[in-house]
Amino acid sequence: MSDKDTPVLAVNSLSKSFGSLEVLKNISLEAKQGEVVSIIGSSGSGKSTFLRCLNFLESPNKGEIQLNGELLQTELKRNGELVPQNKKQLEKFRSHMGMVFQNFNLWSHMTALDNVMEAQVQVLNRSKKEAHEKSCSLLEKVGVFERKDFFPSQLSGGQQQRVAIARALAMDPDVILFDEPTSALDPELVGEVLKVMRNLAEEGRTMLVVTHEIGFAREASSSVAFFHQGVIEEQGKPNDVLKDPRSEILKNFLSTIM
Ligand SMILES: Nc1ncnc2c1ncn2[C@@H]1O[C@H](COP(=O)(O)OP(=O)(O)OP(=O)(O)O)[C@@H](O)[C@H]1O
Ligand SMILES: [Mg+2]
Repeated sequence: MSDKDTPVLAVNSLSKSFGSLEVLKNISLEAKQGEVVSIIGSSGSGKSTFLRCLNFLESPNKGEIQLNGELLQTELKRNGELVPQNKKQLEKFRSHMGMVFQNFNLWSHMTALDNVMEAQVQVLNRSKKEAHEKSCSLLEKVGVFERKDFFPSQLSGGQQQRVAIARALAMDPDVILFDEPTSALDPELVGEVLKVMRNLAEEGRTMLVVTHEIGFAREASSSVAFFHQGVIEEQGKPNDVLKDPRSEILKNFLSTIM
């Protein structure tokens, strides 16, 4: 369907307001196969809203989203919200975009294994046997296989987040969206999650990562986008953006967090 130059994810002129508050202003961003785009920016700059608009957890007011060259068909409602025209196409898009949240969002009444199996069976119609095998190998990959029969409340934050990553991977997503995946973790657990994410980056996964972990952004990403008041104030290679920023606002931001 796509050649290697077609971005896996392409966002064109995305805008979003909450009432009179313009949170995203004409954001365009793309990620090619194997690229890791880190998104940084201060609190309230629109990073989470941007990720949430990509899979329509939030309705944007304007913009286009393409996955592997396919445009998500939308229509503009009277209230100014853009909504998907076709539920089937939205479901397809969502199943190709994995999402990993700050607070893990695991199903609390299910074991780690069941969390990873559930959507494979319910959404992808995989057999239980196939879903079980895949889940075990993914839990192994993220280093929590021994905890597979435990419930989220019996796991550390780092373990829960690694289960959440396994759950996202189980859908064979084309792109994985991470929203501050390590911000809710105790400092000593951050490393184990970042290690899994670095491995995914090295494997050539396409990822969008909202993060405050500047070390990760510098070492693991193909490009860094700095959000400020709903626009991409600066974007480029990590070494340029993080070590030699042009924007004064970005310079200030970096000096407060580094
Ligand atoms: N559902 C909502 N209703 C109204 N305003 C919202 C809603 N969600 C977000 N906002 C506002 O939109 C702005 C951007 O929020 P967003 O959560 O995208 O920021 P962020 O960059 O992810 O910040 P943080 O680093 O704190 O997570 C904020 O001013 C926020 O208060
Ligand atoms: Mg956020």
